[in-house]
Amino acid sequence: MAQIKTDAEVELMRQSALLVSKTLTEVATMLKPGMTSMYIDNFIGSFVRDHGAVPSFLNYHGYPFNSCLSVNDVVVHGFPSEAELKEGDIISVDIGVILNGWHGDHAYTFAIGDPGEEVIKLIQVTKESLYKGIEKAISGNRTGDIGFAIQEHTEKKHGYGVVRELVGHGLGRNLHEDPQVPNYGKRGSGTKLKEGMVLAIEPMINLGKKDVYTESDGWTVRTRDHKASVHFEHDVCVRKHQADILSDYSIIEKAEKANPNLFTSKPVLLSAE
Ligand code: MF3
Ligand code: CO
Repeated sequence: MAQIKTDAEVELMRQSALLVSKTLTEVATMLKPGMTSMYIDNFIGSFVRDHGAVPSFLNYHGYPFNSCLSVNDVVVHGFPSEAELKEGDIISVDIGVILNGWHGDHAYTFAIGDPGEEVIKLIQVTKESLYKGIEKAISGNRTGDIGFAIQEHTEKKHGYGVVRELVGHGLGRNLHEDPQVPNYGKRGSGTKLKEGMVLAIEPMINLGKKDVYTESDGWTVRTRDHKASVHFEHDVCVRKHQADILSDYSIIEKAEKANPNLFTSKPVLLSAE
């Protein structure tokens, strides 16, 4: 059963989501070629703890790091490593925290230098698709409306692959709550959305085919064709006319723009209902 959060609980969850946004902003400021993702993961662990929270992914079903850092053809759940990031790499930085008992969980994909025209477009379209999904996160709609909107914009319009094996989710006192929020689906199908539901909406979109596999480490998910994959995630509260986005990309985008080592993707706004 999907839980309904009170207004006071939603405000606490906003604090959790914003701590993730702030952490992602710090990452946006420091990313550069030559940096290792292990360095970034260590930074994330310290920054989150310094702000009175705990990294929620660490030890979750045995996950062994603070964050998921997924480079190029890694879709999600990438392990931090000692390999140096290089010009043209893209990296999805996915961070979860528990602050005052409430979870924040969101992600952003950065491009170090120039990843090439095709991948730049994939990044932009995936970010747009997240907002197309969020536009459907209003009471009375269903989870399938969110998935349909994301799939239309990415698969139908641009021919990208929508990952089927992993989905968005409810968020609250637990990292994964009901309902599941697939990035594909039929309009009018799935769980009915109610005001006060908090969802982590997270399109995982492949440049090539939708097929993925999990490596022998039990976590790292890669595209089968080894083409790039992009991941964006927001935490949103379902409302009557427009979803309330609890996480904040604007501070991340500002830092991304100010960092000469990063390609900057354009901000996307919700179109008014
Ligand atoms: N954002 C991802 C999710 O919601 C991250 C989970 S990683 C894990 O599933 F390690 F915690 F599983
Ligand atoms: Co998530």
